[in-house]
Amino acid sequence: MPRFEDADFAVDAAPAPGARSPRDARGSAAGSLPIPSDAGNTVEIPATRSSISDAAQYMHNLSFAPSSRDRRASRNSFGTSLPIPRSPRVSRLSSVVHADVSRDILASQVQDVNKEKTAAAKNMAFAFDIDGVLAHGNEAIEEAKEALAILNGDNELGIKIPYILLTNGGGKPEEERCAQLTEVLGCPISTDQFIQSHTPMQALAEYYDTVLVCGGEGQKIRKVAENYGFKNVVHPKDILAWDPTVSPWRSFSEEDRLEAKPRDFSKVKFDAILVFADSRDYATDMQLIMDLLLADDGKMLTRSVDPVANRIPVYFSQGDLVFPTDHKGPPRLTQGLFRISIEAQYKALTGVDLERVVYGKPERATYTYADEVLKAWMEQLHNEARLPENVYMVGDNPASDICGGNMHGWNTCLVRTGVFQGGDNDESNPANFGVFPHVLEAVKTALRKELGQDFKFKWNPKVNPVTHGDGASAVE
Ligand code: G3P
Ligand code: MG
Repeated sequence: MPRFEDADFAVDAAPAPGARSPRDARGSAAGSLPIPSDAGNTVEIPATRSSISDAAQYMHNLSFAPSSRDRRASRNSFGTSLPIPRSPRVSRLSSVVHADVSRDILASQVQDVNKEKTAAAKNMAFAFDIDGVLAHGNEAIEEAKEALAILNGDNELGIKIPYILLTNGGGKPEEERCAQLTEVLGCPISTDQFIQSHTPMQALAEYYDTVLVCGGEGQKIRKVAENYGFKNVVHPKDILAWDPTVSPWRSFSEEDRLEAKPRDFSKVKFDAILVFADSRDYATDMQLIMDLLLADDGKMLTRSVDPVANRIPVYFSQGDLVFPTDHKGPPRLTQGLFRISIEAQYKALTGVDLERVVYGKPERATYTYADEVLKAWMEQLHNEARLPENVYMVGDNPASDICGGNMHGWNTCLVRTGVFQGGDNDESNPANFGVFPHVLEAVKTALRKELGQDFKFKWNPKVNPVTHGDGASAVE
């Protein structure tokens, strides 16, 4: 039986003293990669390539969102423009719930008596992040329910204090997500106070007709894009149903096939690629995105001679790297890391940096759009379509929520129920209003600052509007 000698593997039979062997380095952070098993029946073959990741050279130099500090000089982070709708689409019927008319009358009498406090209450608003602030996955963070109850009118003025939800999440229609949040949070959440990562991207429907949309559960993202007005929406499963061989490692069920809308994609010219949420099939989505980026002017099955001249644009709905979930361990990977993989793949294949656009917090376009939503929501709540002077952003991710809020001139509150687990404050993106254990503490502190240290976080249904001013009939 032939037997291999060490020389056959280009290995020195007796390594020189001090030579770096993976076996020697086992468990040592300073050495090469350790070999996991201690089997004696192995030989060590020197690597021909470095064991250090070479992804950096393939990555676009703007892969990571610069911190507030880095961005100080430039408010336009990516040097390109991001279209957003001129004004938000507001539901035709008012979404503000008036459940109890006599309570509302009593509250407005209390507000009449307390003019100054009421004016201050109408001059403030909140913008809440969702994952890691209000909820973990589909589980509400308990303190969030009380915070929202206070803002929904459970306070000494019986006044609603406007809040919007500004999330980098996405993947399903706004109506569906708001219905889900209403259930999770135990209070009504209207689409008129809700912005998910891709909501402002509806403006792109004016620029592109045929789009590949990726991400999210099942094929819900198709409905999202159709609601936004894109004329010809293609889901990756449509392409798989046309030709399953496009993705060698696909995941494609019978249910997928029933929902898919295959057609002859060899005749389709795509105008843009839109990643709206986390991919549920990295293999297929990466393959198709790369196919279209390398194609000649968005035509499937082609390859462009010049990778840049005829490349169609790619848009990502947000850039977070990790996010908190109901998983008990560290935060999970999310869309930003998927994008970085695409960038690295593109550069590895073409040698060229991929130009791309990233929406979502901390991007200015997202906050500008949030202002419009807030104005419209102010009109519904207070009949005044204006921006309040004191807006408080409550977030758990310094690099997105806090960075964007700081740049936008909002008061920023960082909570410890999500991504941020650091010390006194985040070093790169410090929250300017402070760090709080949870959202309820942030909300109470902001309300006390604007409305007085003695402001009561409870509505008293037996309040006497006339004597209320001295606090005699208010309860704690
Ligand atoms: O994928 C990240 C996203 O879920 C984060 O959502 O609410 O923390 O902005 P949010
Ligand atoms: Mg979050």
